[in-house]
Amino acid sequence: MQIYHTIKGLREALSAHRREGLKIGFVPTMGNLHDGHLALVTQAQQTNDIVVCSIFVNALQFGLNEDWDKYPRTFAADCQKLRASGCDYLFNPDDTEMYPNGLDTQSRVICPTMTDMLCGASRPGHFEGVTTVVSKLFHIVQPDESIFGLKDYQQLAVIRRMVEDLCLPVKIVAAPIFREPDGLAMSSRNSFITPRERPRATVLIDTLSWLAGQISAGNSGFSELEIQARERIAEGGFTADYVTVCHSKTLELAAADDRDLTILGAMYTESARLIDNLSIRIGQP
Ligand code: PAF
Repeated sequence: MQIYHTIKGLREALSAHRREGLKIGFVPTMGNLHDGHLALVTQAQQTNDIVVCSIFVNALQFGLNEDWDKYPRTFAADCQKLRASGCDYLFNPDDTEMYPNGLDTQSRVICPTMTDMLCGASRPGHFEGVTTVVSKLFHIVQPDESIFGLKDYQQLAVIRRMVEDLCLPVKIVAAPIFREPDGLAMSSRNSFITPRERPRATVLIDTLSWLAGQISAGNSGFSELEIQARERIAEGGFTADYVTVCHSKTLELAAADDRDLTILGAMYTESARLIDNLSIRIGQP
């Protein structure tokens, strides 16, 4: 695996492959890689000739009181994992390489839909930071395909919309959620969960599964179900940020006759904010 810290270096290396007509798959990450990330690399390998991964902890998508400074940085271990997974190139810029004019005056990419609800409501500016850095990364790497995990469902929906709106020549591919044996969705932030909390942290996915069961059984009283879901999370010892039944594509609040639904949830532990989701199709075998 070749590692580049500069845009120029990576561009030169990739343009040679592009001239050869090779297809480039791209997996953007913020590092602290787990099996879920490596599955994205494996998925990218299946439909591309070259796989590029990036590791960049993007300050622009963290709020002032968020965990940018304590976000786990495990570069040496990440490189080992990427090498073992057969990744071809790693792009690892620093802040100056990505934001040479500073954050305040950086031009931004704003997606006006789907960004002020759910995670966007509790993390103002977060998705603007994501769409800005992802579009920069797309311009740097110029991938044919880019792979995103379904765990960050809202992020994936926003990026799809940005790509559509801006006619970006990249295919967005969704990868399934990777889970620990007990069902907890893999996340770089799971390392913040205390050992005391860890056995109970599955309450989020358990609650979403319960809600999915209720809806599949014909209960379309979504608001009441969401209240009960929050209570279940509280009984598990955590604080729900939101549990919301949404239309899978638009992320608008689901209507009783919607068929493709995604139930999204977020909750706070002592020092982490965890998210998860489940999609269901109503009325289909
Ligand atoms: O999902 C992530 O890790 C980040 O939001 C991303 C897409 C790498 C942008 O910084």
